[in-house]
Amino acid sequence: MANLKYTVPGMSDADAERVIALLQERLHAANDLHLTLKHVHWNVVGPHFIAVHEMLDPQVEAVRGFADELAERIATLGGSPTGTPGALVAARSWEEYSIGRATTQEHLGALDLVYQGVISSYRDGIKELGELDPVTEDMFIGHTEKLELFHWFIRAHLEDKAGGLSTEGATSEKDAARSAG
Ligand SMILES: [Fe+2]
Repeated sequence: MANLKYTVPGMSDADAERVIALLQERLHAANDLHLTLKHVHWNVVGPHFIAVHEMLDPQVEAVRGFADELAERIATLGGSPTGTPGALVAARSWEEYSIGRATTQEHLGALDLVYQGVISSYRDGIKELGELDPVTEDMFIGHTEKLELFHWFIRAHLEDKAGGLSTEGATSEKDAARSAG
């Protein structure tokens, strides 16, 4: 991380650099997620096409907004946000979304796993930010609340009358898609 020339008042440069690193990781995750949700929007097929196709666009818009907030927080802290696709692919710790044209249930099963990963990482960030920067923590909490709501929209399609999820125990997107389909 390059040395900062300035940061927000009252924060040490070392703390700001760590907060910027957490923000950058979430920025990559948000950019990856809104592109992935559009990919699913374009690739779902089957009798429930229109419901799922249209459910996803407000999620894309919200997650694009999260990316903008994360990037501008990095700049506010004196850093330089990275938003290019090559940098995202080089930095990410997760795999490319693995499903192309498939039924709505298969994609929803895979998205259950996608959201599990994104939300768990946000919660890890919240734990660390409680000490470092409550202002950024507040942003992460706001994003997490929305992501958890969207995750429920996905899971409501995978749930049976007893409350069980068809994707229970799945460890990969393909596995989850198979279970949900
Ligand atoms: Fe569209």
